[in-house]
Amino acid sequence: MKTYNCIIVGSGIAAMQLANHLSNQFRVLVITKSTRRANNSYHAQGGIAAAMGNEDAPFFHYEDTIKAGCDFHNEKEVRVLVENGPALIEQLKNDGLSFDQDEIGQLALGMEGAHSRKRIVHCGGDATGKYMMEHLIASIRPTIDVIENRLVYELMIHPDSKKCIGIKAKDADGNNEVYFSDNVVLAVGGIGGLFSFTSNDSSVAGDGVALAYRAGAEIIDMEFIQFHPTLLYINGKTAGLISEAVRGEGARLVDESGMPLMKGKHLLEDLAPRHIVAKEIFHLRAAGSEVYLDISSIARFEEKFPTITTLCQANGISIEAGKIPVAPGCHFLMGGIAVDSVGQTSIDGLYAIGETAATGVHGANRLASNSLLEGLYYGKKLAVHLNEQIDKNETGATSFYPLKASSLNIPVFPHKEEIQEKMMAYAGIIRTRLELELLEKWINEYDLPAFMDDSLDEWSIENIQKLFMLQTAKLVVNAALLREESRGAHNREDFSVENKRWGQLHIVQSKNGTEMRERQREHTEIEIYA
Ligand code: SIN
Repeated sequence: MKTYNCIIVGSGIAAMQLANHLSNQFRVLVITKSTRRANNSYHAQGGIAAAMGNEDAPFFHYEDTIKAGCDFHNEKEVRVLVENGPALIEQLKNDGLSFDQDEIGQLALGMEGAHSRKRIVHCGGDATGKYMMEHLIASIRPTIDVIENRLVYELMIHPDSKKCIGIKAKDADGNNEVYFSDNVVLAVGGIGGLFSFTSNDSSVAGDGVALAYRAGAEIIDMEFIQFHPTLLYINGKTAGLISEAVRGEGARLVDESGMPLMKGKHLLEDLAPRHIVAKEIFHLRAAGSEVYLDISSIARFEEKFPTITTLCQANGISIEAGKIPVAPGCHFLMGGIAVDSVGQTSIDGLYAIGETAATGVHGANRLASNSLLEGLYYGKKLAVHLNEQIDKNETGATSFYPLKASSLNIPVFPHKEEIQEKMMAYAGIIRTRLELELLEKWINEYDLPAFMDDSLDEWSIENIQKLFMLQTAKLVVNAALLREESRGAHNREDFSVENKRWGQLHIVQSKNGTEMRERQREHTEIEIYA
């Protein structure tokens, strides 16, 4: 049994940024479900949004973030996020990460949906995630333990202190391991794998939310799930992301007859906020038409988008033909584990950062390319916070954890694919009470509360993953049923507009029940300059 000062669960951008900024006095473990290169951050195509351009300023980035997210943010957090963007990019540059440059050697800034200015910094054209993650992985100091292919299945909460004192994990053969730590950080990404159409790495299916919920933490805003408008669509399935940067370079969404889809639908047309574009594509596809991205106007497509070119070629789509078939799919969770401004959850000793955490910076719909920025910012911020606490750590002092009862009846859960298809059909882009209730009823048949406090020591990896999926799905469905309005990425056909009162309320779920909590509005001062 090993003890640490900090265990980081997950290996995406927020996890690696945190690991790289923790004091070398810390004994650190990074533990990840798959491999350190299998995560959403690694596959990120677009880039990092930061107000780096001559015509730009954090104020404009702030405004765009609030508009895209339908004014449902923690404004103070948005302000600090956008204000810190340029310095975080400069730091990466100084540390040796090379961002793409234009012809005169300035940072090449890309355009994406709902941005009023070009502000996306990128690497290798559309391979930002890969370059960024390789840079962060290479910077990890050798004294940090990195363990791959471990499913973390339980957060250990001390029965007396109620503090999180470590984790339990299973190796690939299902053997159990226990790790104690002063601090545990969940940085495991979102919930894309809960849906049949998704841009996410297949390993990302809501583990963070389910682990935290089962441990007693508060979960917030689970109804806000972003569907990316353009995933490659082949033979009835989605096969990976076609970055919004492609539309930023001039590609247009068209129907089967080549008619532009977004014309007259929004002032920004193809670059409207994602929830608006995804909804239009959804309706057209529901009416029986295929939807394509017309890329014929983009010169040197292969050079600008090498990752997408490879993806299309691997799926038999010719770039020369100029038309990529697309469909929307689950992309990003705006809600998640409730945290304060450093990532502290409602459980002492347990933190969350990155997509699994709900910091309030994305509102009801995330602005494109704000997520890598979020990972960089909160990864570093939590490291600074934990470094300040180092004297309070007491590794080993808490290494006692009573045995919990194991479930006697290990349930038979549905196939993963069935959960994904049901979520896509009934809790996807457009939601109705009737469909959500059908889904709720179906999930309730599996009686999740019956296993809530049981040990999963004897469960198989497959069954634990299904339990986590069903648990997370239940949290999504509960929240989506309760929020009787349409706001950002949460679209209710039966409540089709924003409601002022709902705009002031969060839906907070925990083992103690569900609560509508008033939003804390913080009127923020952000300097206007250009
Ligand atoms: C994209 O490249 O379209 C995705 C980037 C993001 O979601 O921020």
